[in-house]
Amino acid sequence: MKKLLKMENIERYYETPAGVVKALDGINIDIHEGERVILLGPSGSGKTTLLNCFSALDSPTNGKYTFKENKVPRHNSEKMTSFRRENIGYVFQFFNLLQDLTVMENILLIQELAGERDSERAEQLLTLVGLESEKDRFPGEISGGQQQRVAIARSIAKKPTLLLGDELTGNLDTETSDKVMQVLVEACSDEEITLIIVTHDESLVKYATRVIRIDSGKIVSDEQVDH
Ligand SMILES: Nc1ncnc2c1ncn2[C@@H]1O[C@H](COP(=O)(O)OP(=O)(O)O)[C@@H](O)[C@H]1O
Ligand SMILES: [Mg+2]
Repeated sequence: MKKLLKMENIERYYETPAGVVKALDGINIDIHEGERVILLGPSGSGKTTLLNCFSALDSPTNGKYTFKENKVPRHNSEKMTSFRRENIGYVFQFFNLLQDLTVMENILLIQELAGERDSERAEQLLTLVGLESEKDRFPGEISGGQQQRVAIARSIAKKPTLLLGDELTGNLDTETSDKVMQVLVEACSDEEITLIIVTHDESLVKYATRVIRIDSGKIVSDEQVDH
C-alpha cells in the first residue's frame, strides 16, 4: 500500500494557568492509502487534538508532518485552509447539517463551495448512503442516523483523500450506529477514501483494518485487524 501521511515525533502543548498540558507527547505514525483506522482512547487522551493535527485545523508545537510526501502547512491559516479543502473531509458528532436546506441542497451547497455543482453525482451519493427517497426532506424531518448518513454523503461529495470522524456515532444508539458505520465503510471503499475515526467506543473496532490506542498523548498500541 502507498503511504498517505507520516507524523514524526509530533507534540502539541497547551499553556494553561495551571501549567503546560502535553496533549500530544511524541506521536509517530504512518498511514497508508485505503486504511480504515480506529483511534481509541479515554476522554482527555488527545484524540481530538491529534485529529485536528491530521486535518491541519491545528498546528503541532513540535515535530514533522508530511502528507503525500509534502510538508503540511502550519501556523498559516490560508495555506492550512487550502490543504484542508484539497484533501480532508470531516464528519462530526452533531451532524452539522444546515437546517434550512433540504438533504439534497445540503450536498449541492458543498459541491458549489468546492467549485462544481453536479446534481447527478449528488443523487449518486445519496443512493450510496441509502437516502435517495429522503432527498427533498429537511434535516429536522429525518432521524439522527439518517442525518449522519447525509453528513457522510456531504463529506464525500468533494472527494477527500482522507476522511476524519470525531465520535461520529457518539450521538446514536447501537443499532443506528452500526448502520451508519456500514454505510461509511462501504462509501469509503467505493470512493477509495482513507478513513480515520476517533472514538472511545470499543464496538467500532470491527469496522477497522487497524486499531491505534492512545493514552496521555502517547500511542500505547497499534495493531492491524484480521477479519
Ligand atoms: N484548547 C485547549 N487548551 C488547553 N488544554 C486543552 C485544549 N484542548 C485540549 N486540551 C487538553 O488536552 C488534552 C487532550 O484533549 P483532547 O484532545 O480534547 O482529548 P480527547 O479528544 O481524547 O478527549 C486534555 O487534557 C485537554 O484538557
Ligand atoms: Mg475529543
